[in-house]
Amino acid sequence: MWIFNSSIGRKLIMSLSGLFLISFLIVHLSANLALLAGTGGAATPAEIPYNVVCHFMDTNPFIMVMVPVLALGFLVHIVYAFILTAQNRKARGNDRYASSSKTNISWASKNMFILGIIVLGFLCLHLIHFWAKMQLQHFIGGTPDANAYQLAVDLFTNPVYVVIYIVWIWALWFHLTHGFWSAFQSMGLNNYNWMPRWKALGSVLATLIAIGFTIIPLFFMFGLNQ
Ligand code: HEM
Repeated sequence: MWIFNSSIGRKLIMSLSGLFLISFLIVHLSANLALLAGTGGAATPAEIPYNVVCHFMDTNPFIMVMVPVLALGFLVHIVYAFILTAQNRKARGNDRYASSSKTNISWASKNMFILGIIVLGFLCLHLIHFWAKMQLQHFIGGTPDANAYQLAVDLFTNPVYVVIYIVWIWALWFHLTHGFWSAFQSMGLNNYNWMPRWKALGSVLATLIAIGFTIIPLFFMFGLNQ
């Protein structure tokens, strides 16, 4: 089938999976912003705003269906990252970016694979620290940690973890500044008028996402939740 066999088909899969992952990031960030409400004067841990959001996320049937779809989205994106990178290297050999100093190729566009690997590495760490203790437990019939808010407090008051987390988010920022408009280019929506718009929109979106994910750990590290 052309979508799997042709270069353009593979690029299309990469762009659709990438845009799907961006939509996930927006939902994820919206949920995480509840952390900025702190304990919200709650009398019990279950009433803390972020724990209310997590409970909804861990029990809502639509979200439960979307979790395996999301895992598949990541898997497809990562597998095709390897395929496309190998294909590009084979096609261009050592002269891959021989003309990059003359043309306007950004650092991010040349390093999408390595940025993706950095994002993946920290993603695994993040899954172990949060997801495995919470949502995964609902899938395997275990006991989820009842206080997700406290998990965030414990991790984000550790400066080493905060630095690692912020490096991760800004690696993702680089990935998205190129990835967003590149996805539209892969879909053929790259005419003279629209390319500058995709680029501007991608930069704004990537920056808002990165700032949103960055202020949360800083909020806890500087004790602003007290
Ligand atoms: C939340 C996480 C991620 C998001 C939102 C994301 C988003 C995107 C987007 C929108 C694109 C542009 C697709 C295109 O050019 O058509 C892209 C490209 C790419 N991504 Fe990701 N990505 C993520 C994680 C990863 C991971 C974990 C890897 C692992 C290796 C990776 C590797 C790549 C590579 C190599 C490309 C460039 C492919 C090419 O055009 O040759 N990404 N990503």
